[in-house]
Amino acid sequence: MASDTLIENVPETMAAMLLTGHGGLDKLVYRDDVATPRPGPGEVLVRVTATAKNNTDRKAREGLYPTKEKGEVTSFAMGGSATLTFPRIQGADVAGRVAAVGEGVDPGRIGQRGLLDFNLYPDARRDLNLMPDYYGHGADGGFAEYVAVPSDQFHTVGNPDLGDAELASMGMCSYQTAYHMMTSANVSSGDRVLVSGASGGVGTALIQLCRIVGAVPYAVSQLDKAEALHALGAEAVIDRGDLPTFVDRVLETTDGAPIDAVMDLVGGEMTDRFIDAMIVDMKRRSSYPRLSIAGASGGNLSEIMWTRIYLYQVQIFGVSHGTRDEAEQLIAWIRTGQLKPVLHAAFKLSDLHEAETYFVNRDSNYLGKIVIVPDSQWAEHGAPYALEEKA
Ligand SMILES: NC(=O)c1ccc[n+]([C@@H]2O[C@H](COP(=O)([O-])OP(=O)(O)OC[C@H]3O[C@@H](n4cnc5c(N)ncnc54)[C@H](OP(=O)(O)O)[C@@H]3O)[C@@H](O)[C@H]2O)c1
Repeated sequence: MASDTLIENVPETMAAMLLTGHGGLDKLVYRDDVATPRPGPGEVLVRVTATAKNNTDRKAREGLYPTKEKGEVTSFAMGGSATLTFPRIQGADVAGRVAAVGEGVDPGRIGQRGLLDFNLYPDARRDLNLMPDYYGHGADGGFAEYVAVPSDQFHTVGNPDLGDAELASMGMCSYQTAYHMMTSANVSSGDRVLVSGASGGVGTALIQLCRIVGAVPYAVSQLDKAEALHALGAEAVIDRGDLPTFVDRVLETTDGAPIDAVMDLVGGEMTDRFIDAMIVDMKRRSSYPRLSIAGASGGNLSEIMWTRIYLYQVQIFGVSHGTRDEAEQLIAWIRTGQLKPVLHAAFKLSDLHEAETYFVNRDSNYLGKIVIVPDSQWAEHGAPYALEEKA
């Protein structure tokens, strides 16, 4: 049943981490006197219990999204003008409880636990998202105690066995991107799929999603993570070092068969070797070689010979975020337990500087996501996942 705005027991001010401009960590300022947002028509006010960290937080802070000239400090501006203004509260992947509802929203939603579809969709289309932007960038996100978001994008997830921090670790910034990489390249049952950056947030989502659709994921990673990646569903783990032998090592794991599709999060000098692994023996292929790219952790520039791309008919898909339909499919897989959380550690919101430094410098023996928990929620939702030395 729809209602007028209903706000009870919500404080006037809240704690939040404000991004005050482009630059270093000093641009992130923790405050406990920020005005609590009010839910507008069609919105719910969410009491945040956990928010996942993403690379985009750092990139947006440092102004690392050049869209025109190399090195230009800018950010998403697909609609013509940049949507990131300051101060901004970052944090895309929000888990929490509905604390209040705006006009037109069923008050029965109050108390429901859910996960945010992080997109600021440009329109109502369910199968197309032409101008990806998101909560935490073009509007305030979850590095705070409360956030106001559209009711139809805050998806209820009951699942009592799943902690709130675990739910946040399955946020759409990683999972929807991973799924859209696969749908763009038409990844299908039986496909051999190479996944680079396999231990990260998007990579761990890709491995699980490949198995759900019946595809066979080959993880490109570091060997100290092999056991955990196998446990997650990887068919084989290929060391990302020693590029000259990369293709031979891939073929050893596939009995000489070419890779059908590549899900690339690394870019740089590796992408050309990934293409080699698909076109190495065209007689053994039954579909066009397909490359989806959604990240460039290994370098923003690659040298690609275009004759190779068109002669071998390599299909290349640039991917950012995904669609409403894809987000809802992923929520359904979370509800049925087909997707599992891969949560590395939780940090307090007031320790976000420390979390950022840890995130940038982490190297061996980690898998998956780092989650940020408001200090007021820490004992219940953060402490069980604290790094051992911080517990
Ligand atoms: N387009 C979009 O909508 C979208 C959405 C989300 C993320 N992204 C981008 O996708 C990328 C992955 O995101 P994520 O959240 O999964 O990141 P993440 O959790 O930081 O994982 C990145 C992984 O890439 C690998 N890696 C890092 N540096 C590397 C290097 N120099 N060379 C080779 N591999 C390297 C590492 O995996 P191994 O140790 O296993 O090799 C690392 O775990 C990032 O660039 C991110 O900005 C884009």
